[in-house]
Amino acid sequence: MQPLSNFSSTLYDKYGVQTITAIVNDCYNRILSDSELASYFVGVDMNVLRKHQVLFLSYILGSKRSYNGANLKSAHTNLSVTEEHFNRFIQHIDDSCRYFNLDLEDRAAFVARMRTLKYFIVHQ
Ligand code: HEM
Repeated sequence: MQPLSNFSSTLYDKYGVQTITAIVNDCYNRILSDSELASYFVGVDMNVLRKHQVLFLSYILGSKRSYNGANLKSAHTNLSVTEEHFNRFIQHIDDSCRYFNLDLEDRAAFVARMRTLKYFIVHQ
């Protein structure tokens, strides 16, 4: 899996880990308030998940640090995530990126990159 790399400086350098952390926290608040999605996260340690997601998104955005978490596909295999729920999840990420004022082209590139991960997440 390749991070977003066609930038002279990466989006990770541009926005920094504080903004990425704020987006992750805001995004999971939206997701847990979404009655269509909240049930996926019952019994999940959200502190651990938020930390893993910060590391993963940092990696996608060009952080030098590699992501050591569970394989994305195996983490989602038993969840039976539907395409509709995947799209709702992405919409929350997009809303959080807009809330934290990412530039439009950066937000579009980031969300497009997230969409390419569908194969790993959606139950086949
Ligand atoms: C592009 C979209 C997504 C990305 C990048 C993503 C990323 C991640 C990451 C990095 C983890 C942590 C894996 C680890 O422990 O290292 C995780 C776990 C998890 N994800 Fe996702 N995810 C996505 C979509 C979804 C969707 C759509 C749902 C459900 C609606 C979902 C539900 C979960 C749950 C419940 C866990 C915790 C699994 C466990 O602890 O057993 N994810 N995800």
